Amino acid sequence: MNCNVCSKEINPFMSFGPMPIANGFLSKEQFKDEYFFEMEVAFCANCYMFQLVNQPEREKMFNGNYPFYSGTSNFMKLHFQKFANVVINDFLIKKTDPLVIELGSNDGIMLQNFADKGIRHLGIEPSSNVAKIAMGKGINTIVDFFEKSLAEKIVNKYGKADVLIGANVMCHIPYIKSIIEGIKLILKKDGVVIFEDPYLGDVITKTTYDQIYDEHTFIFSLHSIQYLFDQFDMELVDIEYQETHGGSMRYIISNKGQMSVSNKVNLKLQYERNLGLTYPETFGIFKNNCEKHRSELLNLLDKIKSEGKRISGYAATSKSTTIINYCGITNDQLDCIYDTTPIKHGKFSPGGHIPIITQSKFKTNFPDYALLFAYNHQKEIEAKEIEFVAQGGKWISYVPKIMVTS
Ligand code: SAH
Ligand code: TYD
Ligand code: ZN
Repeated sequence: MNCNVCSKEINPFMSFGPMPIANGFLSKEQFKDEYFFEMEVAFCANCYMFQLVNQPEREKMFNGNYPFYSGTSNFMKLHFQKFANVVINDFLIKKTDPLVIELGSNDGIMLQNFADKGIRHLGIEPSSNVAKIAMGKGINTIVDFFEKSLAEKIVNKYGKADVLIGANVMCHIPYIKSIIEGIKLILKKDGVVIFEDPYLGDVITKTTYDQIYDEHTFIFSLHSIQYLFDQFDMELVDIEYQETHGGSMRYIISNKGQMSVSNKVNLKLQYERNLGLTYPETFGIFKNNCEKHRSELLNLLDKIKSEGKRISGYAATSKSTTIINYCGITNDQLDCIYDTTPIKHGKFSPGGHIPIITQSKFKTNFPDYALLFAYNHQKEIEAKEIEFVAQGGKWISYVPKIMVTS
């Protein structure tokens, strides 16, 4: 196996075992044909990229039934509003009739903020069901996978962009080099690329191995991003840490020599070296931590079940697919998972086949314990479910460590 970025030979340091499509919620009839792949991860000591060794083909993950709708969280709506304001105030305000392009624009949660202000915008989103929601709100969207060939067509039709943005999408794309070649074509010489993704520093310090699933080809660090963009004569000029998705990093990138490099970049690079994000040994420790985390979580669930109590899952996230399948959690431990997404209701979780139930039913049948799979939305969820705790329910969370709270 060769590194996706620098082509050097790499070896997986860990396997999570057979994994289904993280967002492949399915009906009973589909169980017998369910797709699995061996989910292994590798760290490239040459370019510092943390990556999946193999991945399902993109159409298996992103299609007309993609069940991740960005707009389901109010916290994320606010986050993208703030993100858009930074883009407008720092990069667009002085431009005449600027164009902003977003990759992975999903249901329009981000671009809505530009559309509302009459700013020229374009979203690229291959999952047609979510793209249709954006288009229904008047957001200009192309339903396709972004890559170099599409970039050429876009430039011919719309001209070049001042800013290219993305959230939780760059790390999804194994053909990342074609993406950056496309970005080079689509972006004005003095344009900027601003994107954010789950941060390797948090995955390592919090053992959030549930960020590893089929869609996440890469977990970026400043080191790997710097190496990657350097190959295309571009440079990392600034960063902004984000609390979203359990800890993310926003990267600001320009063509070389166009902007000065913030000292924050150098400080964070030093932080990463101190943390060991450039050393293969760190990932051996991470593997041990994952195994320890798995046995602690299983022990806790088994102890609760031996007391005859009921446990339900809360939020059928992509991340939960890794937890459920790697830990081998079954319907014996979790009676169901409550979730707000209509397209998931009446279906079963990928691999573990735990029923997904509409979240409005939670309050009519409180379990003794709720395993919180969306710890990144903890505040929003706990505020919504005060009644659960008031009548004696307990939350089980597993980030930054396994905890029971009431
Ligand atoms: N930006 C949103 C959605 C993230 S999910 C948010 O942060 O909430 C990732 C999205 O990227 C999905 O909607 C998926 O369909 C889209 N995607 C996957 N490959 C892509 C590609 N090559 N070009 C553009 N979008 C892509
Ligand atoms: P998120 O952490 O964004 O998911 P992922 O791991 O896939 O990135 O959480 C989104 C999921 O959580 C989605 O299935 C809806 C669900 N959810 C609830 O069920 N209730 C809630 O209050 C929130 C905020 C999310
Ligand atoms: Zn490499």
